[in-house]
Amino acid sequence: MNIILTGFMGTGKTLIGKMLSERLSYKYIDIDTIIEEREKMPIVDIFKEKGEGYFRNVESNIIRETISQANKSVISVGGGAVLRKMNVDVMKKNGIIVLLAATPEVIYERLKCDTTRPLLKVNNPKEKIVSLLSTRNAYYYDSCNLIVSTNNRTPEDIVEEIILKLEIKWTEFREGGVEGCLQQKK
Ligand code: S3P
Repeated sequence: MNIILTGFMGTGKTLIGKMLSERLSYKYIDIDTIIEEREKMPIVDIFKEKGEGYFRNVESNIIRETISQANKSVISVGGGAVLRKMNVDVMKKNGIIVLLAATPEVIYERLKCDTTRPLLKVNNPKEKIVSLLSTRNAYYYDSCNLIVSTNNRTPEDIVEEIILKLEIKWTEFREGGVEGCLQQKK
């Protein structure tokens, strides 16, 4: 079983994923890092030189290959991974999906000086965050097994809450198998 962290850019998937994997003695896997290694360039350049469609195809291939082989791993996926059903199907089959949530204001504050997110390289990044979240929220909330807010909290506190909620999910999982776990969502 794996733990898969989803959520919008800037919700803390990388930091929380690393801390959670250490706490659980799980391996940590970052899908965006594998994409950059495979393509030998940063994501911002992949978008610029090859386009978002190309990036999404590489992302889906790496999600399929990596997540279907992973075990006892905490895996962070990029903020757009939940948009494709085939990605969500692989995630659901191979792990418990934890959504890290944050408000647009908090996300903006965290990312306002960031230069690595191609989708936010626009004149009004705050507006873009609001509009992307409004189209994506349904995908985030529909695909997850549990939700943890990362607004104005310490990373340690967030990790504790995930572990507590995971213990409940694992009990459900052992009792009802994957289907039982997924049916008793959130
Ligand atoms: C994206 C999020 C990014 C990265 C790419 C696209 C998105 O990952 O995959 O820039 O569509 O939200 P993070 O969520 O780790 O920033």
